[in-house]
Amino acid sequence: SASECSYTYEEYKETADWLLERCKVRPTVAIICGSGLGGLADLLENRTVIPYEKIPRFPQSTVHGHMGQLVFGELNGKQCVCMKGRFHFYEGYSIAKVTYPVRVFYLLGVKTLIVTNAAGGLNPKFNVGDIMLIKDHINLPGFAGQNPLCGQNDERFGVRFPCMSDAYDREMFRLAQETAAELGCASFLQQGVYCMLAGPTFETIAECKMLQTLGADAVGMSTVPEVIVARHCGLRVFGLSLITNKAVMDYASEERANHEEVLETTRMRAMDLQRLVSNLLAKI
Ligand code: 6GU
Repeated sequence: SASECSYTYEEYKETADWLLERCKVRPTVAIICGSGLGGLADLLENRTVIPYEKIPRFPQSTVHGHMGQLVFGELNGKQCVCMKGRFHFYEGYSIAKVTYPVRVFYLLGVKTLIVTNAAGGLNPKFNVGDIMLIKDHINLPGFAGQNPLCGQNDERFGVRFPCMSDAYDREMFRLAQETAAELGCASFLQQGVYCMLAGPTFETIAECKMLQTLGADAVGMSTVPEVIVARHCGLRVFGLSLITNKAVMDYASEERANHEEVLETTRMRAMDLQRLVSNLLAKI
């Protein structure tokens, strides 16, 4: 049931207080780094790095290496906390676990959440390597009963029925467009609707056509639960998708979606994405 996999206010608070005791940084911005985009966390100055496994009540990462760390520090004059490695629903985490860090960030005093992800392009105008500013989302798991706010509502976080028509902050969106233009990124900048699927399978051709019909420009396996929980507790949200591959749309195509291509494209564009986020921070 929903209540079995939910947490109490006190649990989030315990994690937040533990972190506040260990870090000098008082972050106002939290950044969730998507697949292959963890390099952003390495740019922080005066860093405090805390592996997820050391943090009380924090979900444990299933991936090895440096992809399970909270990194506190300064980026372009802003005090930040970065999640190097996120929790995905397809890994078997409940949505309560996937979104656990967001409520902890809120209790740390964070006001702005920046989310990044790797996504497949559904919009025929998109190219591999494009950066899409997220204008809106489609919570497809939510249609099937998987919404992170299902279960008892705790008013200390937010209201029972939160509005989502203003999920992505328009002013930050505009500032990101301006920043991209200044950095010479305009030729590969897009905007659009991100649709989440649970994964871990990539989409069939029929599913891609369906998502296109529904108005989705990009498809991925993350981000939406975190954004919903962030908006519930009043955080300002900005998101961007790196279009790592084009979703396969016709039966004659020899192309196959695969994780290698996703990682290859993130390597190619990681620097541009980092510059964009870092320069955007200076403006907020
Ligand atoms: Cl094509 N689909 C999904 N669901 N996630 C992705 C992707 C595609 N490309 C990168 N991430």
